Amino acid sequence: MKPFVGRDFLTLMDYNKEEILRIIDLADELKNMRAKGEPHAYLQGKTVAMIFEKHSTRTRLSFQAGAAHLGLQAFYMDPSTMQISRGESLIDTAKTIDRYSDALVIRTHEQEIVDDFAKYMDRPVLNALTNESHPCQLLADIQHVREKKGRLKNLKIGYVGDVWNMAHSWGIVSSIFGWDMMFALPEKYKHLFWPRAKEFIEKTNQETGGNLTLTHDLKDAITDADVVVGITFVSMTRGATEEDMKKKLADFMPYQINAEVMSWAKNDAIYMHCLPAHRGEEVTDEVIDGPQSFVFDQAENRMHTEKALLALLMGGVE
Ligand code: CP
Ligand code: NVA
Repeated sequence: MKPFVGRDFLTLMDYNKEEILRIIDLADELKNMRAKGEPHAYLQGKTVAMIFEKHSTRTRLSFQAGAAHLGLQAFYMDPSTMQISRGESLIDTAKTIDRYSDALVIRTHEQEIVDDFAKYMDRPVLNALTNESHPCQLLADIQHVREKKGRLKNLKIGYVGDVWNMAHSWGIVSSIFGWDMMFALPEKYKHLFWPRAKEFIEKTNQETGGNLTLTHDLKDAITDADVVVGITFVSMTRGATEEDMKKKLADFMPYQINAEVMSWAKNDAIYMHCLPAHRGEEVTDEVIDGPQSFVFDQAENRMHTEKALLALLMGGVE
């Protein structure tokens, strides 16, 4: 295990299983401490800058609330009011943030943007979602799976949704933990899987015994799954036209998770969704509000896992 202090958190491909488990274990501890009202202001006097170039409810709020618990001051910066939107370069912006802030949390478009901030900043850069990856969400999801299934071994995951950040991040985590991961998607979307993640997943699965299958057959993906993951069919993206989005939604609609689809999974399967959900599209109310879904518990874990991450990367905890 490498020391955490000062490291970036750009994708889960940069962290091994032991390191991920260290973050999740600490998140469990912090969750417990908060429930008992025990103080844990491990980052008193430090600051974290937060830039969000895309909409967010959970990520922004969970980081801000978590920072407050840690005694850490979070500054939310709206890029449309920053000089970067008037042409100041990314390099100059990154170097400036580095002088004021002890870390940067950033939600943006291409993965190269977070990679570049990390390149030009000495302080830790945390990826709060790019087109290609959403590693903070997966930390919460791993904690949730362990809480609800009682294990992180021998799992079949059936994933249905956009071939975008969440698909790649679930694939990466599944390979690290050696899970059997099946993605159901229309045939013509298969080639969109992020090549860097695909290469990592294939290599890692060989070491861990995991498996990644992309199939157009929804029944095959969901049958006997322990965890059914539903994700939006149309992700946040720039440049997509109304027509592109309508077409994509129509292509994915046959993959909706409804009660019948959920019945193909194991009887004790759980349904997961990172939210926001598009009810009536990727999932029906019956499933997301049903007894196998705990999506707000899942969302709560965003805060506990991000607190653990901040505490480790910013040196509040060894
Ligand atoms: N799951 C997630 O990242 O939610 P927000 O887009 O609301 O932050
Ligand atoms: N795939 C979704 C995740 C939202 C949290 C998107 O990028 O829009």
